[in-house]
Amino acid sequence: MKLERLCLWISLLSSALIFAVWAERSFSIDYRRNSFLKDGEQFRYISGSIHYSRVPRYYWRDRLLKLYMSGLNAIQVYVMWNYHEQEQGQYSFEGDRDLDHFLHLANETGLLVILRPGPYVCAEWDMGGLPAWLLQNPKIILRSADPDYMQAVSNWMAVLLTKIQPWLYQNGGNIISVQVENEYGSYFACDYNYMRTLRLLFRSFLGEDVVLFTTDGNTDKELVCGTLEGLYTTIDFGTGTNITAAFQRQRRFEPKGPLVNSEFYTGWLDHWGDKHSSVQSQEVSKMLREMLSMGANVNMYMFEGGTNFGYWNGADYDPRFRPVVTSYDYDAPLTEAGDPTEKLQAIRDIIKDFRDVPAGPFPPATLKMAYGFVMLQKMGNVSSLLDVLSPQGPVRSKNPLTFEEIKQYYGYVLYRTLLPWNLPDPTPLISPMNGIHDRSYISVNGVYQGVMERDVTLVINVTGREGDRLDVLVENMGRVNFGSNINDYKGILGNLILGNDVLSDWLIFPLDVDGVIAKGLPQAGWHDGKSEEETGPAFYSGTFNSNGVSRDTFIKLNGWTKGQVFINGFNVGRFWAARGPQHTLYVPASLISATLTNNITVLELEKPANHRRVVFTDRPQLDNITV
Ligand SMILES: *[C@@H]1O[C@H](CO)[C@@H](O)[C@H](O)[C@H]1NC(C)=O
Ligand SMILES: *[C@@H]1O[C@H](CO)[C@@H](O)[C@H](O)[C@H]1NC(C)=O
Ligand SMILES: *[C@@H]1O[C@H](CO)[C@@H](O)[C@H](O)[C@H]1NC(C)=O
Ligand SMILES: *[C@@H]1O[C@H](CO)[C@@H](O)[C@H](O)[C@H]1NC(C)=O
Ligand SMILES: *[C@@H]1O[C@H](CO)[C@@H](O)[C@H](O)[C@H]1NC(C)=O
Repeated sequence: MKLERLCLWISLLSSALIFAVWAERSFSIDYRRNSFLKDGEQFRYISGSIHYSRVPRYYWRDRLLKLYMSGLNAIQVYVMWNYHEQEQGQYSFEGDRDLDHFLHLANETGLLVILRPGPYVCAEWDMGGLPAWLLQNPKIILRSADPDYMQAVSNWMAVLLTKIQPWLYQNGGNIISVQVENEYGSYFACDYNYMRTLRLLFRSFLGEDVVLFTTDGNTDKELVCGTLEGLYTTIDFGTGTNITAAFQRQRRFEPKGPLVNSEFYTGWLDHWGDKHSSVQSQEVSKMLREMLSMGANVNMYMFEGGTNFGYWNGADYDPRFRPVVTSYDYDAPLTEAGDPTEKLQAIRDIIKDFRDVPAGPFPPATLKMAYGFVMLQKMGNVSSLLDVLSPQGPVRSKNPLTFEEIKQYYGYVLYRTLLPWNLPDPTPLISPMNGIHDRSYISVNGVYQGVMERDVTLVINVTGREGDRLDVLVENMGRVNFGSNINDYKGILGNLILGNDVLSDWLIFPLDVDGVIAKGLPQAGWHDGKSEEETGPAFYSGTFNSNGVSRDTFIKLNGWTKGQVFINGFNVGRFWAARGPQHTLYVPASLISATLTNNITVLELEKPANHRRVVFTDRPQLDNITV
């Protein structure tokens, strides 16, 4: 080869190399300029949280587009472990659980992703996202280096992080950073070996280049226990906080690098029986402006809250058990149904001063439909439908077993025993250790006696005769998701005492309510229960036609008490009309058939409305306490 030729080749090769280096996608931290770096350029994110597990897949694209049109350049996403591994070793990434598809849509929309894969996430989600099957080991120390816990985490992360790895920004995807654990400093364990093991695990699957970070509350104690070398320290706080002081605190733990508020609260969650939470738009937008003016990176938690469908809501424990409502509206800029609010407009106006907000009309609210009243008929009570609801039959045990022991992690379990003697006078049935987790509905030979409720009602009087069936239907109202009480077993913990005697010899029926309803019942095997008692746990159902229009709607159960609602076999969540503050359940259009007859099934646990009607309205009501 001639010399010139060789030189040409060398110069071509080296320019190709230079080009390759230039074209390389990278995301990192510039400690000198206190910034993130994307492809070598300074970068700041203005992000919003959205959880795909709280929005039906049908609406993912719609919501992502709305986040994008609000001026965000990133979204922050939790992965709920128990949503994907409901039974140990059985993974689900289909349909509403299709994380790949969600990431794909986000990428198509032009949104970067800040991923928070746990293993624990809090999120007001059942058990903070940890699978309840972990509790089968009574000695397990959750969120610690406990080898049994760590083994389960490693198995899960091997599945999850392998899926994530191709989505990292440097690998051609849109995930710019990955959070390790979640607000670990708020947990009592403060186990650095745990955090070190997680760091090793994340690095081994995701490589050395990805930005890994932690998020903790705005106190020294939390930052001391939650942070670890090699994981970038970020902080979270809401309105009413001194921003300067909060970021100074982040600086004490991370002297250089970008300022980051990983959870700037746009609103707040609701518990049953508590006042509806709201946060003023002006407060949110004013503070957002201040943080952005300081050059900070901000993630708004939540931007779109969505819904705790099914049994997925969590609970707090401070100082008593307080389950979270079905709606996760959060008073966020986009409502539970994905509609823009005045808060969104205020936020968008602020963002305009800091980056280009996409031009064009903002996507409108989805159309709603008030389908009106539907009459429901009683289809039978739980006690008399046990062969249908519990096809595998009961587990026999001298003492009550927990949900976790019989491997039914969610929903309802019926505990049955016989009265040991005649009870002509009202006799106290007692849960001595406050062991009803969380609420139970009691009947004797089909006669409803009332409710026992964790932390609230530990004694109830019953009457009956020797040999009568005592049925205790126990509802799991959602596991504690925050603090040191997350080992939240469900069912009857310990024994029940009747008068002075311990009750024993139980038949424990795991109930597959969701499976039965999804299979199209009530029709087969159910009966019309006209002559039955008015009160006590029972199923009611009805139908309606949408006249060819399937739209978002809200079901309201005025006059009913408490229970669970299913639309065409889909569990839209819990209602508690007798307590509030939530009075409507969001029913997305994707559940309503335009052509077929639509089916509603209600499991009412206490007392139905006399009129036996429900109504589909075109607006939500989330803010009315009834107690
Ligand atoms: C993400 O979107 C960009 C731009 O539309 C596209 O070039 C890229 O291939 C997408 N990446 C993935 C992993 O789908
Ligand atoms: C906020 O915190 C800073 C730094 O600690 C302090 O100087 C300032 O006075 C505080 N502002 C208010 C309004 O308390
Ligand atoms: C449940 O239904 C059965 C069969 O119809 C009836 O005998 C019983 O009294 C009912 N119990 C309640 C609490 O309604
Ligand atoms: C149970 O009945 C007894 C006797 O009638 C009564 O004194 C007591 O207050 C009742 N307890 C409850 C919790 O209703
Ligand atoms: C409602 O139930 C009926 C009877 O089981 C069934 O034929 C129909 O398809 C159901 N409707 C929908 C929308 O699933």
